[in-house]
Amino acid sequence: MAIQRVILTDSRKEDVFYEEAIKTLRTNMQFSGVETKSIVLTSCYPNEGKSDVAFQLAVEIGKMGKRVLIIDADIRKSSYIKRYQIKQKTNGLSQYLSGQVALEEIIYSTNYRNLEIIFSGPYAPNPSELLEQGRFGRLIEETRKVYDYILIDTPPIISMSDAAIAAKQCDGAILVIESEAVSRRDAMKAKEQLTKSGCKILGAVLNKVDMKKEKYYSKYNSYYYGKSKQE
Ligand SMILES: Nc1ncnc2c1ncn2[C@@H]1O[C@H](COP(=O)(O)OP(=O)(O)OP(=O)(O)O)[C@@H](O)[C@H]1O
Ligand SMILES: [Mg+2]
Repeated sequence: MAIQRVILTDSRKEDVFYEEAIKTLRTNMQFSGVETKSIVLTSCYPNEGKSDVAFQLAVEIGKMGKRVLIIDADIRKSSYIKRYQIKQKTNGLSQYLSGQVALEEIIYSTNYRNLEIIFSGPYAPNPSELLEQGRFGRLIEETRKVYDYILIDTPPIISMSDAAIAAKQCDGAILVIESEAVSRRDAMKAKEQLTKSGCKILGAVLNKVDMKKEKYYSKYNSYYYGKSKQE
């Protein structure tokens, strides 16, 4: 669907445990069914690792031969442009949602196999309203026809409604939880908000696990992915 191209430079240090865990997440995701295509990634708080998990997961899905689109729907705080060192001027989601540009103008092909990307675009004062209007739903509808997976990176769900609004229009959600940083109460609150949006919770990722404490011979972080209990 893309007519423009960007080169993404990932300066993340190699981490075999992280990569293995992302592959496990990818494998588990495949069991959620062919109709589960549009998937929101969110968390309770800022900085738990949503954007990173979303991107690395998208890369792994692409490697498997599936077409994947990653959407940065964090209009309040875009991370991908800076993190992946994009120098050129790009159009993004906020411009499409506000009717300034067409859908084709915000989709970029990348130097990663089968991976296309939509950046968040310039800051807009009313992201929730923009996501609620028809254009976001139409974007998901149109892209579902083309991609095997659409991963949507969103802001934290507890303090802002953006993630729940996006989830309402998607097939599934993955909750990223930073190890030892999230209270049970807040994790349950996030889960409730997702459930209320009518979105299927596919599971949770326990991120930034201290592997030393876990008695592994490693100082690296890893992830665990499991089906969340439907309480
Ligand atoms: N598994 C990990 N181990 C160690 N650090 C990590 C891990 N995952 C992410 N980080 C670091 O944590 C920080 C936050 O990551 P990221 O931007 O992906 O989080 P986020 O949840 O998207 O944040 P925000 O809420 O601000 O959008 C980054 O500096 C990133 O490098
Ligand atoms: Mg983020």
